[in-house]
Amino acid sequence: MRFRYFKPVVFLACLIPLARLGWKAYSGLLGANPIEVITHSTGDWTLRFLLITLSVTPLRKLTGQLWLIRYRRMFGLFAFFYATLHFLTYIWLDKFFDLHEMLIDIAKRKFITVGFTAFLLLIPLAITSTSGWIRRLGGKRWNLLHRLIYVSAIAGVIHYWWLVKADIRKPEQYAAILAVLLSYRVIVWLRQKKEDPRSGGAAANSPAFQRRVSTPHDQVP
Ligand code: HEM
Repeated sequence: MRFRYFKPVVFLACLIPLARLGWKAYSGLLGANPIEVITHSTGDWTLRFLLITLSVTPLRKLTGQLWLIRYRRMFGLFAFFYATLHFLTYIWLDKFFDLHEMLIDIAKRKFITVGFTAFLLLIPLAITSTSGWIRRLGGKRWNLLHRLIYVSAIAGVIHYWWLVKADIRKPEQYAAILAVLLSYRVIVWLRQKKEDPRSGGAAANSPAFQRRVSTPHDQVP
C-alpha cells in the first residue's frame, strides 16, 4: 500500500531528462549547437540508466530491500528509450536519414561502431523484457540472453571514452562505476562456484533463480 503511488512517481522522474530537453528546446535554450546538446544529453542518460539498471541487483541483495526488483525492468526500458532517442538524433537531426553517410560513419569511426553495437544489443533485451518472454524462453535462457546488458554497458563506456578528445574524467567515472557493478557479479559468481563447484557458478541453475525469473517482474516480492 505504502508503495502504491511510488511506481508512477519513479516513471515520471525517469522522464525528467526528456522534459528538460523539451523545455530547453521550446525556450530556445539549447545554445548554438542544439543537435550536439541533444546527442550528449540522450547519450549520457542512456549510460546512466544502464548503470542504474545494473545497480538494482547489488542494492537489493546488499540492503535486503527486495522490492527494488520491481523497478529493474522499468530502468532497463528507459535505458533503451534514451538510446533510441540518441540514435534517432543521430540518424535524423545529424545525418538526415542519409543511409550511405551513416554506413560509412558506422564502418569508419570506431566510436560510432561501438555505440551502434551497444544499441543493437539492447534491442533483444527490450523485446524480451515482458513476463511472457520470460516464460517462453525459460529462466536459464532468458538469464543468459539478458547478460548482453553487461556487453552493452561496456560498449557504451568504450563508445564514450573513444569519442572524448581531451578530458576523460566523465568516461572514467562511468567506467569506475561499471567496474564496481561488474566486479560484484564476478565475486558472487566465484562464491557460488566455491560453495557448489558442480553448478559451475551458474546462479541461473539454482532453484531460487529459476523461481525468481519465472515470476513476472512486478510480482517478485
Ligand atoms: C547503448 C548505446 C549508446 C550509449 C550508452 C551512448 C552513450 C553516449 C555518451 C555518454 C555520449 C557523450 C555524452 C556527453 O558528451 O556528455 C555519446 C555521444 C555520442 N554518441 Fe552515443 N551512445 C550510444 C549509442 C550511439 C549510437 C548507436 C550512435 C550512432 C550511431 C551514437 C552516436 C553518438 C554521437 C555522434 C555522439 C556525439 C559525439 C561527439 O560529440 O563528438 N551513440 N553517446
